Amino acid sequence: MQVTYTLSELREVIGAWRSTGVSIAFVPTMGNLHAGHLKLVHEARKRADKIVVSIFVNPTQFGIGEDFETYPRTEREDMEKLIDVGADLLYLPSVADVYAPDALTFVTVTGLSDRYCGASRPGHFSGVATIVCKLLNRVQPNIALFGQKDFQQLAIIRTMVRDLDLPVEIIGIETVREADGLAMSSRNGYLTAQERAVAPMLYQSLCSARDALIDDKQSMAQIERDALLFLQSAGFQADYFSIARSGDLQRANAEDSDLVILAAAKLGKTRLIDNICFSRESMNKP
Ligand code: PAJ
Repeated sequence: MQVTYTLSELREVIGAWRSTGVSIAFVPTMGNLHAGHLKLVHEARKRADKIVVSIFVNPTQFGIGEDFETYPRTEREDMEKLIDVGADLLYLPSVADVYAPDALTFVTVTGLSDRYCGASRPGHFSGVATIVCKLLNRVQPNIALFGQKDFQQLAIIRTMVRDLDLPVEIIGIETVREADGLAMSSRNGYLTAQERAVAPMLYQSLCSARDALIDDKQSMAQIERDALLFLQSAGFQADYFSIARSGDLQRANAEDSDLVILAAAKLGKTRLIDNICFSRESMNKP
């Protein structure tokens, strides 16, 4: 696996590949890699000749008082994992390589960015869209892979790529979970042993709400309220628990069948997010 630290080195490697006509897949990450990230690389392998992974803890997507400084940085271990899973190139830029100090341009996907996680993390999705746009321009991949674990992020990236005519195909990959259902996340490492034991209840709340929606006996508002109460009594400070249309993330109503339930909740100092995406129609079929 090659490792590049600057845009000029990156362009040199990518340019040489391009001249031989290979296809390129890209997996952007913030590092501290776990099986969820590695699944993206594994799926990339099936779909392209060369795999580029980036590790960049992007300062512009962290708010004041969030965990930018303490975000786990485990480059050595990450490199070993990427070699094992067959990545061809790791791009590991510094903040100075990515952002000019006088940068003035930011990308904002309006409408989608200020709800759910965007409501409690103002500016977060503008930081995400900007860095993903920059990285796509730098790597110029044929395809880029993102996890459905960050469902709103994926929807924002798909919309940005469509609206800005970026020549890349975005592929969403299913969430990888621990055996007890907890969605894998770099932030799970912040949980105390006691919090870790409670954490799978976030996914349980999503599964119960999905079952209730398929059962179709309670209103959506009632299902959301019950889930919030369940999370609160389990010890979470719930941020939101919302039933939305999976296509556009607008609030769902009783007639909609392609749904996503999105949830975010804090356990102690750790903010966890998860979601479950399903079609009521296909699940009601005999
Ligand atoms: P990060 O949290 O490191 O995640 C990198 C990619 O891995 C994202 O596409 C995310 O959705 C995916 N991922 C994380 N946990 C996963 C899981 N349990 N199963 C499947 N995929 C999972 O998301 C970011 O970084 C950043 O916002 C980034 C897109 C790199 C921009 O800075």
